[in-house]
Amino acid sequence: MANSVKVAVTGASGNIGYALLFRIAAGDVFGKDTPVEINLIDIEPSLQAAKGTAMELSDAAFPLVRSLNVTTDLEEGFKDVDAAFLVGSRPRTKGMERADLLEANGAIFTDQGKALNKVASRDVKVLVVGNPANTNALIAANNAPDLDPSQFTAMLRLDHNRALSQLAKKTGKHSTDFSRVVVWGNHSASQFPDLTFAESDGQPVEVDQDWYTEEFIPRVAKRGAEIIEVRGSSSAASAAAAAVDHMHDWFHGTEDWRTAGVVSDGSYGVDAGLVAGMPTVARDGKWEIVQGLELNDFQRERIAASVAELREEKEAVKDLLG
Ligand code: NAI
Repeated sequence: MANSVKVAVTGASGNIGYALLFRIAAGDVFGKDTPVEINLIDIEPSLQAAKGTAMELSDAAFPLVRSLNVTTDLEEGFKDVDAAFLVGSRPRTKGMERADLLEANGAIFTDQGKALNKVASRDVKVLVVGNPANTNALIAANNAPDLDPSQFTAMLRLDHNRALSQLAKKTGKHSTDFSRVVVWGNHSASQFPDLTFAESDGQPVEVDQDWYTEEFIPRVAKRGAEIIEVRGSSSAASAAAAAVDHMHDWFHGTEDWRTAGVVSDGSYGVDAGLVAGMPTVARDGKWEIVQGLELNDFQRERIAASVAELREEKEAVKDLLG
């Protein structure tokens, strides 16, 4: 047996939390021989429900689970954690402007960044799922001066997986047959799911351009809304699966491209310091941005549009950036 991994999940009582916690407990993130110590964090009104989830986790008698702790206290929940899934966030309510949502969530991620900075493992890996995920990750990173900004990431893996799945459906192949797919920018409708570099069996993937621009890109970018329309509630198990994939690859490494929302180094027209979806590989516990790609005008334009939105979001929360 490996050493145990300490992991925290905020928004533990929510829909994504419910799906995610059982995957973590089953060993799907850190490995089938790695015990886990799980902290479930939520806010006071959701504490009872989080306790209920912990009771079910306990009832499942997972062989790898060493401890389950439910708390509303961030410093208790983040103490020495190796991995933190920041899922909880304030939902947008009727009449709430986007700026209000950014600000309300900004306050949450400021506190979480500060608490992680104070008590988490110095190597903690943080994945922000709660929306607006990119800007929330930016805020958390900026409020954790003793941690490296690269330890904070935003989830674009669901968008990445959606892109693979749509491509597989169109071509009659399997999602695992493709490599070098990326979703640039913000986890929002402005994102750019990009097939320019996509390969299958080492060969470029040829796709119909009308399908690509008129169907594929908008479909992936607006898939969240489509799920709400059809299912009646927002993506939860698929979001949890993407969070599992992201953290799994971060810990275990990957040679093929994955999309992670990472702090930009200024490559590809993405302002340094913004958290954006980029083509990345994971090596030695770090996401590395794939370097040296030649972009065409269409790619540059689409990336710039999403970056413009990220800049606006950053401007709206500038007082929270530490
Ligand atoms: P949910 O509504 O089922 O659960 C929300 C959770 O957040 C609850 O545990 C609640 O107690 C907690 N919460 C509410 N207000 C809070 C506050 N002020 N501070 C801290 N926690 C608070 O939502 P669900 O479906 O679990 O989604 C969680 C988040 O994930 C949402 O922000 C959603 O938009 C986002 N999301 C992100 C995706 C991505 O790809 N990045 C995909 C799908 C969802």
